[in-house]
Amino acid sequence: MSILTANEIREKYLKFFEGKGHKRLPSAPLIPENDPTVLFTTAGMHPLVPYLLGEKHPLGTRLCNSQKCIRTGDIDDVGDNTHGTFFEMLGNWSLGDYFKKEAIEWSFEFLTKELRIPLEKLAFTVFDPSIDLGQEGQSPSAGSGQVIPKDEEAFNLWQNLGVKPERIAYLGHEDNWWGPAGATGPCGPDTEMFYWAGENSAPEKFNPQDKQWVEIWNNVFMQYNKTADGKFEELSQKNVDTGMGLERTTAILQGKNNVYATELFTLILSKIAEISGKQYEENTKSFRIIADHIKASVFILSDGLVPSNTERGYVLRRLIRRAIRYGKLLGIENAFMGEVAKVVIEMYEDIYIELKENQEVILSELQKEEERFLTCLDRGLKEFEKIKKPIISGEEVFNLYQSYGFPLEITREIAKEKGKEVDEKGFEIELKKHQDLSRTASAGQFKSGLADDSQATTKYHTATHLMLAALRQVLGEDIQQKGSNITSERIRFDFNFERKLTEQEIKKIEDLVNEKIKMALPVVCCEMETKEALKEGATGVFGHKYPDKVKVYSVGPSADSASSPQAGSGRVFSKEICAGPHVENTKELGVFKIVKQEASSSGVRRIKAILQQ
Ligand code: ALA
Repeated sequence: MSILTANEIREKYLKFFEGKGHKRLPSAPLIPENDPTVLFTTAGMHPLVPYLLGEKHPLGTRLCNSQKCIRTGDIDDVGDNTHGTFFEMLGNWSLGDYFKKEAIEWSFEFLTKELRIPLEKLAFTVFDPSIDLGQEGQSPSAGSGQVIPKDEEAFNLWQNLGVKPERIAYLGHEDNWWGPAGATGPCGPDTEMFYWAGENSAPEKFNPQDKQWVEIWNNVFMQYNKTADGKFEELSQKNVDTGMGLERTTAILQGKNNVYATELFTLILSKIAEISGKQYEENTKSFRIIADHIKASVFILSDGLVPSNTERGYVLRRLIRRAIRYGKLLGIENAFMGEVAKVVIEMYEDIYIELKENQEVILSELQKEEERFLTCLDRGLKEFEKIKKPIISGEEVFNLYQSYGFPLEITREIAKEKGKEVDEKGFEIELKKHQDLSRTASAGQFKSGLADDSQATTKYHTATHLMLAALRQVLGEDIQQKGSNITSERIRFDFNFERKLTEQEIKKIEDLVNEKIKMALPVVCCEMETKEALKEGATGVFGHKYPDKVKVYSVGPSADSASSPQAGSGRVFSKEICAGPHVENTKELGVFKIVKQEASSSGVRRIKAILQQ
């Protein structure tokens, strides 16, 4: 069996599913748009939620892609053999098209024929709700009065393909139920595929607890929607959502016991060795953390986010600063992030073009953040030395955070190295007192969760389109969206603009948006070729790679514009490439008001706006 590279596995996967009628989607950005409750895209299905719930996708009912993902829930574990923050997820989807039979048969075909994994090395799990009944967490159907059946169908499908029953295990909700990612949304039972990575031959009987069985792929049968009252409604369509971690699959197929031993990391690790003059083998944890965190930071920066003290920007800041601190532990004295980042960009730029397109910004933001932190790091470390007590108080932790830019986990790590403890509760209290971090940056938000599609958020989403069109009309056609964060209470919007807006400009923008609201303009969605959309002047987010076909939302002209003599009412006011959702008519929006403006980062202006009813 020849050894496959990660690039070959990715391409084989996408080609295979294209051969089964799937359309290849570009990766969605890591930063979900218009979804305030999730920090980063953590699975290929996130950007597809509206379509899993029944909306029509412009590319049809069979899709596949390689999705950039970030999971920061386990950030403290990065450095061991299995945890990383950035990874690529290969996925294929059926949007109400094929279901269990095809999904399982194609997974089997791909694993055994394309990847040529011998059947003796494979094992499978399927869902049985009775397994964790009575435990905490319970079966998803528990309490709802519904019975979600044991997935004998999946069991039989695997068996019919030649899998021995001893190699198929039933597991409960903990292991074999996916989603919803937030409080509500699409979910269902799944079946997982395991590869025997042990040195000896695989045992006849599959024991899912044995760590030598490594999970490589998950097929979710999304046929339910969890509603706000905890019920599991049958969806109008039955979907398939699958996910295969590229890094992990590459490692095990190459006979490696960790992802850092694959070509997805080796060049990065060599660069770190070159810069530090240290050996990877003797400094495994530091090397791995630096490599993982810089890779994740490069990808996040390429999607337009910059380091800050709140929300997503703070996760990015933590990743960058933690990498710098581990660089310091390796004895690196000078700025080094850029050198390592260049290796990452070169490795991936053909697959994720945003890396190449945004190279300058990525490197300059890394450099700025590195300069900022390096100026405080040594002084902060000295401050640390002054602490003699075995427990570092909340105030001291806060001082390190506030005056020297030490994120909590850096303080925690240094404390551990010195055999000290950290009063984390005390730190939280200090933080609250100073209200420095916004509510959403609290620890809970570092885990994922999708926003519930509230009507209010939808209104704000449409108002954002009107606002961008107004900004372009008032400030200039070159205004671009640099970031947008919409909740059910406000819009926060970043765009390229050097200076403060004048009061007249703000008033003009507000008036223009309110005029369009008063005109009761219909919001129209149509699907078209991306080329066509761009030719017609539809606005997109700079640096995004769009699929060949997209949805375009237009506002205006007014329904009676053909006969209306009123100047301007016949023209489309706003036209944006966007996945939605939006209100049907601007009259639903209320009164638009800009409540705040500030500089977000250099050359980027941020405004906050609200709708009053
Ligand atoms: N959404 C599923 C997962 O992430 C496929 O495992």
